[in-house]
Amino acid sequence: MNSPETLNPHKDKLAALDARVRHHELAHEIRRHDALYYQEDSPEITDAEYDALRKELEAIEVQYPELITADSPTQKVGAEPARGFSKVRHAVPMLSLSNVFSEEELSDFLERVGRFLGLDPSGTIDIVAEPKIDGLSCALRYENRQLVQAATRGDGTEGEDITDNVKTISDIPHSLPGDAPDRVEIRGEIYMGLRAFQDLNQSLAAQDKKIFANPRNAAAGSVRQLDSSITAKRPLRFFGYALADNLDFKTQDEIRKALESWGVPVTPWGVYSGLSSLMENYQKTLEGRADLDYEIDGIVYKVNRIDYQSRLGFVSRAPRWATAHKFPAEKAVTRLNDIDIQVGRTGALTPVARLEPITVGGVVVSNATLHNEDEIRRKDVRIGDTVVIQRAGDVIPQVVEVLKDKRPAGAQEFSYPDHCPACGSLAIREEGEAVRRCTGGLICPAQAVERLKHFVSRLAFDIEGLGSKIIELFWDKGILKSPADIFKLEQKNQDGEIQPPLQEWDGWGDKSADNLFAAIKERRSIALNRFIYALGIRQVGEATAKRLAAVYGDFDHLQNAMMQAQDRAAGAYEDLLNIDDIGPAVADDLLGFFAEQHNREVLNDLLRQVEIEPYVRPIHQEGSALAGKTVVFTGTLEKMTRSEAKAQAERLGAKVSGSVSGKTDYVVAGDDAGSKLKKAKDLGVTVLSEEEWLALSNAE
Ligand code: IVH
Repeated sequence: MNSPETLNPHKDKLAALDARVRHHELAHEIRRHDALYYQEDSPEITDAEYDALRKELEAIEVQYPELITADSPTQKVGAEPARGFSKVRHAVPMLSLSNVFSEEELSDFLERVGRFLGLDPSGTIDIVAEPKIDGLSCALRYENRQLVQAATRGDGTEGEDITDNVKTISDIPHSLPGDAPDRVEIRGEIYMGLRAFQDLNQSLAAQDKKIFANPRNAAAGSVRQLDSSITAKRPLRFFGYALADNLDFKTQDEIRKALESWGVPVTPWGVYSGLSSLMENYQKTLEGRADLDYEIDGIVYKVNRIDYQSRLGFVSRAPRWATAHKFPAEKAVTRLNDIDIQVGRTGALTPVARLEPITVGGVVVSNATLHNEDEIRRKDVRIGDTVVIQRAGDVIPQVVEVLKDKRPAGAQEFSYPDHCPACGSLAIREEGEAVRRCTGGLICPAQAVERLKHFVSRLAFDIEGLGSKIIELFWDKGILKSPADIFKLEQKNQDGEIQPPLQEWDGWGDKSADNLFAAIKERRSIALNRFIYALGIRQVGEATAKRLAAVYGDFDHLQNAMMQAQDRAAGAYEDLLNIDDIGPAVADDLLGFFAEQHNREVLNDLLRQVEIEPYVRPIHQEGSALAGKTVVFTGTLEKMTRSEAKAQAERLGAKVSGSVSGKTDYVVAGDDAGSKLKKAKDLGVTVLSEEEWLALSNAE
């Protein structure tokens, strides 16, 4: 048979190239959304949109496995931990869940599980179904039955130590009863109840403080308080759902019962068998959702038998033995009172719908995004319209549809501005771009303020106490115009008074000013990747900043290279394009930034204030003894299915091949092995029996 190469070599090469480019784009986007979700608590897209990005990435990696790198989002969960808390390495990684969105996908999941285990296709398998709580996961370590440590998930491998904060949550027992094991790690979800969430927001609003967009953000924001006395005042709750190590338990059902008996709150759950009973439970839970005082965004299914779970194992970041059946987004109908235009850091104009406040799944929504001008036109959104809005999980609500039959006479069409509402400069839309941008650049106050906010944000300078509100206040007062000004806030006049006298402003005592100055001082030394990210160069997100830091090592090198690369014929330009994730468009934005005289002035000013630490390369861990080895399975295996064997080998870092060659390290031969076994013997490749393979792989 002809391989695709022999049919059309160019087409195939091109497809591979396209795939590589798309893979980069997707990886970059997913990392950005991970950081927004896990570190900033402010996601920009719905879970479904996020899942679609991941699915596309996974599909590319299936077709082009050579694109799978260790730092591909498919190989890790979440984002790196935020700063401020000490780090905790999880003894057992905290993983994520795959999703299903329909009966058909659920049926595929069940079939896959059965096939993997080699079960009779006509039989069914016991599945535990439990609600998926929309909070943040937490690992509670008990030693001698005392709570000794609590940690967030972080990137799945390393989280944050939040012990002090967790000890303020009354649902979480500080000690376990005598019949509990000596050492155990309980995993579950910290969440905030809906009513408690509304009360909290009300009281925050009354104090003129920023309110939380939803209960999940409120829970995450409360857990991440550096001062645990603040956490103690927040109405946080907990549901347990798993153990890091299953100990001697035989089923998931037993684990839940044990948790309950130890005084750990658990949600209602059930054991089901077969698609129709699971679907019945899904419908029932969906209908009962509105009566719950906590947010759930789906149902988690787990294979009940623990021995099956162990055999099924994991695929990259999620267990094969579990999946989440997601609920559709919650919708509501309300009136669109107005459309405002917001100007972002890079000058992008974003339309925001101002709504008649409405409760969607327990959360009051008064703003929704309209994305861009084409969206407004496509959906024909007019001021005064009745609109359907949707809130999915955690993200900014969206306007999905206009109810045209409810349109009042004279509803105005929105005329999209061609000038920036903040500075009056022309706003233009480049060909092929969906967004219109303000051309005011340096004179646009909206952009300047947004850039300052970005500069101090969590992944950038991360200055404690210098949040968005304070930046706006300092900007309005005229004491903060450029990043370097932050480091000049603490200046004393001849009388020794701090200039400007922050202390005299409303709500600013000596103490808060001192705290702020101390936090600023701490950031006078900053990691190179954070510094690059903080500059807010278009298309240079966290991941790209890290890559640039890794390649150039220190800021002088980077700056020199960017100046040399202004000449597109120079080797420095080629070097830049050779960096993963950097294509001509990103390069243009980078070089454009360094070419701009004003930016260079801002940079020089800043470099007089801060010290940039050179990039420190992370140390890579040693792989297992099977890492990098090539294994071929042949013949009939007794103890496991072929897919199970393959998965196990891959988990240990081995590559599984279908044919024997000189490069093969091991051939695992089951019963009736034929030509492959013969070839292995001819080539002198090590041949293992199934038992020998099991001994070798289980020793890992
Ligand atoms: S089991 C390896 N059970 O959903 C199994 N997770 O999307 C991983 N979650 O990180 C977790 N309710 O934060 C499990 N009943 C439940 C859950 C649950 C909520 C969260 C958890 C996890 C995320 C995965």
